[in-house]
Amino acid sequence: MTFENILVDNSNGITTITINRPSKLNALNRVTIQELHDAFENLEGDKKTKVIIITGSGEKAFVAGADISEFADYSIEEGSNLAAQGQKILFDYIENFNKPVIAAVNGFALGGGLELAMACHFRVASDNAKMGLPEVSLGVIPGYGGTQRLPQLVGKGRAMELIMTAGMIDANQALNYGLVNHVTPQEELLSLAEKIASKIMRNSSVAISAGIKAINAGFKDGVNGYQAEIEEFGNCFGTEDFEEGTTAFLEKRKAEFPGK
Ligand code: COA
Repeated sequence: MTFENILVDNSNGITTITINRPSKLNALNRVTIQELHDAFENLEGDKKTKVIIITGSGEKAFVAGADISEFADYSIEEGSNLAAQGQKILFDYIENFNKPVIAAVNGFALGGGLELAMACHFRVASDNAKMGLPEVSLGVIPGYGGTQRLPQLVGKGRAMELIMTAGMIDANQALNYGLVNHVTPQEELLSLAEKIASKIMRNSSVAISAGIKAINAGFKDGVNGYQAEIEEFGNCFGTEDFEEGTTAFLEKRKAEFPGK
């Protein structure tokens, strides 16, 4: 598959997707959103992909937001379609993806960029990263899940302040808020994300996928997270990975998970 605005690279079970529009600080236009969707769809059943890392091209930006030039003259209807379509094909899609997705935030993550990072399962950041949801400075609000995921991650009061002030926080404050899990010098960012990915890959991919579903269930309206956990827990007992994991433990050897 060839793409205009993203690069997709696989090695040792890790697929790295790089958003590659550095002259526009990797802003998410329609084409980029569609390409990201297509790339993820491709990776769903790809045996060579165990973990996905998303990052931005260049040293300045992860993603500086949705592409403002594309929606500046939109009507009410076009605005709501933009948000609905983006949430469906990219942001919700990543959040519910069956394989771990790590955001490696390598600079500005603003607006849709921070929303993209927040849709990933967790985030690591370089020490030059700056994050915020500045949409109200443009007369609009976050439309790709930011009003929901930011309060989930940092608490309602902090989210209210960040959104109302349209302010930016630096990497260390994001760490302090729990918005990112680790901060590292920029040149070590990808190797840190890969190191975490390698730790993840030692475990059962089937169980990890069940864990993602159960954790996400607790944040969905009308879904009982505890009940979802019971179901996912039970399902694990029917997998070859469970058989291998428990047998390997009892035989005092390292598990070789078949991923089934
Ligand atoms: N949409 C479209 N283009 C964007 C963009 C966005 N969200 N963010 C940056 N760009 C473009 C700029 O228009 C500029 O393009 P040009 O060279 O053709 O004029 C290029 O990227 C470089 O950005 P520039 O503003 O010159 O860089 P800077 O270092 O002076 O400022 C930012 C960096 C991130 C502070 C600034 O680009 C910015 O505020 N971006 C918008 C952030 C935002 O509001 N995002 C939320 C959108 S909903």
